Amino acid sequence: MKQSEKSDFRYNTGEAKVPWDAVAVKPDTSLVMDVVRFLIGPGADTSAYAAAAIKVEGAVEELYRQGRPAAKLSLGAQVKAVEDLARQYLGCKHASFVVNWTAGYDIALDLAGVRSGDEVIIPAITFIATAAPALRKGARIVFADVQRDTVNLDPVDVARKITPRTKAIVPVHIGGYPVDMEPLMELARQKGIAVIEDAAHGFGGTYQGRQLGTIGDFGAYSFHEVKNITALGEGGIVVTNSDLGAQFAKARFCGFDLETPPPKTWLYNISPIYSTDGHAFVPSNFSTTEIQAVALLNHIRRNDQIIAQRRAAARKLHDAFSNVPGLLPGPLPSRDYGSTCHLFLLRIDPKVILGGIQPFKQALANKGVTQIAHFCPLYYYKLFKELGYDQAAIAASCPGAEQIFFEHYTHLPLFGLSDEAIQYMIDSVIQTARELKA
Ligand SMILES: Cc1ncc(COP(=O)(O)O)c(C=O)c1O
Repeated sequence: MKQSEKSDFRYNTGEAKVPWDAVAVKPDTSLVMDVVRFLIGPGADTSAYAAAAIKVEGAVEELYRQGRPAAKLSLGAQVKAVEDLARQYLGCKHASFVVNWTAGYDIALDLAGVRSGDEVIIPAITFIATAAPALRKGARIVFADVQRDTVNLDPVDVARKITPRTKAIVPVHIGGYPVDMEPLMELARQKGIAVIEDAAHGFGGTYQGRQLGTIGDFGAYSFHEVKNITALGEGGIVVTNSDLGAQFAKARFCGFDLETPPPKTWLYNISPIYSTDGHAFVPSNFSTTEIQAVALLNHIRRNDQIIAQRRAAARKLHDAFSNVPGLLPGPLPSRDYGSTCHLFLLRIDPKVILGGIQPFKQALANKGVTQIAHFCPLYYYKLFKELGYDQAAIAASCPGAEQIFFEHYTHLPLFGLSDEAIQYMIDSVIQTARELKA
């Protein structure tokens, strides 16, 4: 790297007799082989595996001789390539690749100016990460009810729960099915409230032709290993079309600042990040590795194909369940609601199927159909009790969440299933509905 390039100062030493490589250990054949062995673990026949591994090791050694082993492992060209591709794919101004969705949301909360005493409205049913970073900033979580047919935030209840302290609304595109963003954005604009989209399940999904995550003021995606695509286990991207996104690089890496003159004889300065209302926040370190970026680049390029496969499976399940008494499949993707089909929403009618959703799930598990633990209303967690939230009062204000969680809904998996496995799942669900029929 040339001295003049404004990048990561630690690699800015140029040509040298004692090179930069002397500073730290680099990946070698043994490390690559350990990664290969981890990702493609031993099969049942270990002697055949060992023989194959020796061949691979020889090939990796040859690659080392012929190639140029990676020198930079964190925040380098691959991370930049992820961000360039994400901006292009999503059609947004700013994108930053961070350690996970939670980190991206943390940055978005800071830039939206969420701090102690503010209120943040989230749906009652989601993953805990939609609440935790806001709580850590001293904000209060306000739970809005969810719609019974999608498990998504209900804009009507959001309107009821806005107060003068509401600083942000966080719609969650559960299972990749788009929240009805139009009424929500209208409400937020009228009241001057930020919208931060939890598009953890929504990368590549669309609402009225716009990419999920790019409709609100900020959005973030998760590339955890159980999402549609992954950055080798953990990863997230935070996006915005606002100029505040110019601070993403500082927000991700400790306020690292090459634009402001450094203190005497030092290399760089450290700056705060400024929220939309001018408040200074202390940045953290949410940096990602080049290896994560290589994996994510591969998956982003395949994302449309993966979504298409999932949508095809969802259509099969939907068609099969549509006319079965007691089964209420969730809505299919449409032109305006371009779901990523991360999860297949299946509701049951508790008047037709006895005992509610738990016996139904148990019967499916007994038949060998993997069960996804569907999210519980967050206000039941010990955390909220200890923080003084009135669980009974919140539950009473979220009747939709109460009913669908205890009686109605579950999620079915959609990815990589053979035709036989899909048919088996369809048959098992229909058979269970008949067995448990009132
Ligand atoms: C709805 C939702 N939001 C946020 C997250 C957090 O994502 P990450 O683990 O990448 O921080 C998840 C992860 O499961 C999720 O399901």
